[in-house]
Amino acid sequence: MDKFSKKLAVAVMSCAAVVTAFSVPVIADDAAPADIKDRTSPPDPVSELAKQQGYKFEDGRYRNKDGEPQPVVTKDYMVDWGTWNGFRRYHDACHVCHGPNALGSTFAPALADSLKTMDYSTFVATVSGGRKTNRGGTMFVMPSFGEDRNIMCYLDDIYTYIKARSLGIMPPGRPAGREDISDAAKKAADECTG
Ligand code: HEC
Repeated sequence: MDKFSKKLAVAVMSCAAVVTAFSVPVIADDAAPADIKDRTSPPDPVSELAKQQGYKFEDGRYRNKDGEPQPVVTKDYMVDWGTWNGFRRYHDACHVCHGPNALGSTFAPALADSLKTMDYSTFVATVSGGRKTNRGGTMFVMPSFGEDRNIMCYLDDIYTYIKARSLGIMPPGRPAGREDISDAAKKAADECTG
């Protein structure tokens, strides 16, 4: 092995080690990784479970009777599209402060714990408006994402991912599989992102 390939091999190895340690995905925006299983049919375990849980499918997501988006996670950790997309987007935009798997950091709270008590509308208001708290002279700043379509258009997805973590129905790391994106979810995202 020449010097360069040796260096490359070491770089690849240490990179793989970092990725494994944090289970943080590095995924191109629309590319689904090869190890993610597509919706199995029939029957589709995710929509079957959603039905059992009394959720309706509206505007591209499963919702409870109040219209709030809900995660659907089977016992094999197959998830609905929104929860899967939220997993990707959380680890793109939130994990730098809130830690991988919504488990928190020294700087920002574990959102998996926050959502045990925080309701949906407070979550949306906090992310869109941001928050600053002075604790003993140190400012803790949650940026406001209200103007950021890349966040706001997918905030329900991010919510369902964190909600799944807070309910304890999904272990840390990448979901085992997912549904395909629905036409309704595609349309909602297209209309929102413009
Ligand atoms: C630059 C760092 C940073 C980023 C990026 C960030 N946050 Fe925060 N967030 C914080 C800090 C710090 C707090 C705590 C603020 C405080 O103490 O008032 C916070 C608080 C929150 C809270 C309130 C939690 C609670 O228990 O009250 C929510 C909800 C939240 N963030 C969601 C998100 C989401 C969703 C994202 C990604 C779209 C995100 N944050 C990205 C730093 C960040």
